[in-house]
Amino acid sequence: MAGNSEQVITPTMHHINLKTTKLQEMIDWYGLVIGAKPNFQNPVLAFITHDRANHRIALLAVPGLHDDPQKFVHTGIHHTAFEYASFADLMSTYARLKRAGIEPQFCLNHGLTTSLYYPDPDQNMVELQVDNFGDWEASAEWMRTSDDFRNDPIGSFFDADAVLAAYEGGATFEQLQIDTRGGKFPPKKQPDLNLPPLG
Ligand SMILES: [Fe+2]
Repeated sequence: MAGNSEQVITPTMHHINLKTTKLQEMIDWYGLVIGAKPNFQNPVLAFITHDRANHRIALLAVPGLHDDPQKFVHTGIHHTAFEYASFADLMSTYARLKRAGIEPQFCLNHGLTTSLYYPDPDQNMVELQVDNFGDWEASAEWMRTSDDFRNDPIGSFFDADAVLAAYEGGATFEQLQIDTRGGKFPPKKQPDLNLPPLG
């Protein structure tokens, strides 16, 4: 009987819901960055998606909302993340967004992923990533068992322009992972994580 089972049936993560005072700006930004399009929109809400799901992001812009000047020290969501199939796709997206005037706030070789973090119009961070192993099983196993990850679960910040130039110059993704982990392409400025000061 379905009602008597103690089995935890694992659902698929489907969508996030963000409250905003900048509805159209948010729709446009997610359209440009991840290719999301509205399946439904009215003056106070929108349901947008970048794949076959009816919506992946719900945007609520009901009257009475206001921005949080202390957002970065309040609890709640820090970022959402979207994964590309390849490093080439991530770098192509980096270059396309840069041409459109959108640049990451910080870039991180996280060990298990290579990730670019962008602030959306409400300063919710959006991580665009690629799996460093190209394989969820392998990166999950590495996360569980690697001393490297245990010792440094955040990873190494890098400068995306320098990495893109090296990639276009023939460096492989594998080599660039070693290089960014080794600090070969340090960021030009101190990364701003949209968090209280660490340490
Ligand atoms: Fe993340």
